[in-house]
Amino acid sequence: MALVPIVSSARALSVICKQWQRKYGRLPDAVVLEGPESGGHQGFSPEQCVDPAFTIENLLPSVLAERDNWGDFPVLVAGGVWDRADIMRFLALGASGVQMGTRFIGTFECDAHPNFKETILKAEADDIVLMKSPVGMPARGVRTALQSRMEEGTAPQIRCVSQCLTPCGHGKGAMEVGYCIADRLADAWHGDRESGLFFSGSNGARLKDMMSVHDLIEELTQDPGLQGR
Ligand SMILES: Cc1cc2nc3c(=O)[nH]c(=O)nc-3n(C[C@H](O)[C@H](O)[C@H](O)COP(=O)(O)O)c2cc1C
Repeated sequence: MALVPIVSSARALSVICKQWQRKYGRLPDAVVLEGPESGGHQGFSPEQCVDPAFTIENLLPSVLAERDNWGDFPVLVAGGVWDRADIMRFLALGASGVQMGTRFIGTFECDAHPNFKETILKAEADDIVLMKSPVGMPARGVRTALQSRMEEGTAPQIRCVSQCLTPCGHGKGAMEVGYCIADRLADAWHGDRESGLFFSGSNGARLKDMMSVHDLIEELTQDPGLQGR
């Protein structure tokens, strides 16, 4: 089993390597540096999410330097990678690869509910926002009926049935932000547009048409220089 943690800073990578080595005698097999354009929860404060100092371009050199302190495992970047040009750019900056999420929501093979896909495909740039999450980190997703209902005071009740996430404090975090993350993500999974929370990377606004994974991979790799790497 390959162990590939996700980090948002060189410091986080340092802590993981130190702890894993001391406790388990293991280091990551690779690491993903996820920047603040990604979908869902962010490893940054709301201010950092919009601060150019925290783009993956700017974070990558320090993460590569930290990796060099521990070995030569690959560093992959994630968050806002859209096309072949992005991939080439990050490979040139020293990344060994990329992790892409949002772009694959716009594929026929993606098993998200059709309403989930439609919500992302219809979203414009202004609809994709950072919101508060019960776990205390900002989260990026589409502004839908859920947010309006919270403002109007008609949001679904917080029942805390799942008792799921330690950082939520058994519903304390949910009460603070006005929604239960487990229930709302589950509603999005079921395609409920009235109460679902639809996570998306900032690139969700660029998704306009569905395509096959085959065609997307072709598009991403058609440069022979990339295929050889
Ligand atoms: C709908 C959605 C749900 C996600 N859920 C998780 C998650 O549960 N855990 C996680 O570590 N990352 C999650 N992510 C982040 C992705 O794993 C990925 O690293 C990130 O979205 C990459 O950026 P991109 O979407 O701009 O390509 C999610 C992303 C999306 C779009």
